[in-house]
Amino acid sequence: MKFNRVVINNVRNISDATIFPSEKFNFIYGVNGSGKTSLLESLYYFGHVRSFRSHLVNRIIKLDQEVMTLFSDLISPQQTTLNVGIQRTSDKDCKMHIQQQPIKTTADLAILLPIILINPDSFSLLDGGPKPRRSILDWGVFHVEHQYYSLWLRFQRCLKQRNQALKDHLSYEQIIVWDEEFCNLAEQIDQYRRHYYELLNPVFHKVLTELLTIENFKFEYHKGWNEDIDLKELLSTHLEQDMERGYTYYGPQRADLILKIGTIPLQDFLSRGQQKIVVSALRIAQAQVLREINGKECIFLVDDLPSELGAEYRFFLIEMLNRLNAQVFITAIEKNLILPGLVNKEGKMFHVEHGNIHDEGELVEVNFG
Ligand SMILES: Nc1ncnc2c1ncn2[C@@H]1O[C@H](COP(=O)(O)OP(=O)(O)OP(=O)(O)O)[C@@H](O)[C@H]1O
Ligand SMILES: [Mg+2]
Repeated sequence: MKFNRVVINNVRNISDATIFPSEKFNFIYGVNGSGKTSLLESLYYFGHVRSFRSHLVNRIIKLDQEVMTLFSDLISPQQTTLNVGIQRTSDKDCKMHIQQQPIKTTADLAILLPIILINPDSFSLLDGGPKPRRSILDWGVFHVEHQYYSLWLRFQRCLKQRNQALKDHLSYEQIIVWDEEFCNLAEQIDQYRRHYYELLNPVFHKVLTELLTIENFKFEYHKGWNEDIDLKELLSTHLEQDMERGYTYYGPQRADLILKIGTIPLQDFLSRGQQKIVVSALRIAQAQVLREINGKECIFLVDDLPSELGAEYRFFLIEMLNRLNAQVFITAIEKNLILPGLVNKEGKMFHVEHGNIHDEGELVEVNFG
């Protein structure tokens, strides 16, 4: 589904805004602090029911306001429409609706809106620990196979119980009672993830070679425990250590996607701009897989694209997004940083000023001067 109409109330500095985005490119420009990222944050919220900027629920609500509301008419490739709404009050109460019917889980919204964010923080995907890489892996698996979500939830619950038993220093018997279910769910999670990785790997390589020449580039999936050892055996041989640590060491909770050049971690070798291109290529490959396997089109939110990217790469990325037929929202401080790459593309332009969003119409009407 794509955003056809979006109504935003009380999100950061945006009090009240309604936009009718293009189904293709939406270029959003405005000075620092005008509200560009806040607009993207609102769109992201529809598909994740959380912010990408703060895990503190209240931060996103406009200062001195109690309630924030988001509403959107979505449109499918077959031109059917669906409306969705989210209302969050500062006391952490969140109401979600699809076609005016209340829904309980955020997954119902996420299924409708496969949203991919590329922003200056996307680097943390390479720099930091495995968590963000695991999370984009799971994002991909979930959108390709929706049933993965309930399996993942069951595994998280089981892991939590086992860890709690370890933390509480319960007896051996009370800890290993979880192992059967833990291993059973772990094997299933691994199968889903591996299957998705096998779909993604060739597409990622292909997209990346179009953008960069990197010799000896490696993209690997690590499942979180030794390939050739039975997980149940590992859990039992490491029970003492798990008890000392107070958490379960081996399992899918340690899975990772490894990006290397030969044996060197990518972030130790590539420039920041190149790293950004690799991360963008990975996200574009994910969208391509989803399109090929499920016929679903992603929505891209690209915040501050110009930062650390030369014009050549900026325009090349735009070209790749264009080929995907995705709905894209791109922000920049100045028009001329992006617009030349959008010439002859279908789309609209929005100017943001003090939290007000002005629709400036079709891209083709733009005067580049
Ligand atoms: N909860 C809030 N209530 C009201 N205003 C807020 C809130 N949180 C942040 N702001 C303000 O909203 C404004 C818009 O922020 P935003 O990050 O969207 O700007 P931006 O256009 O993306 O700027 P930049 O180009 O610097 O990235 C900022 O001035 C910020 O201080
Ligand atoms: Mg911003």
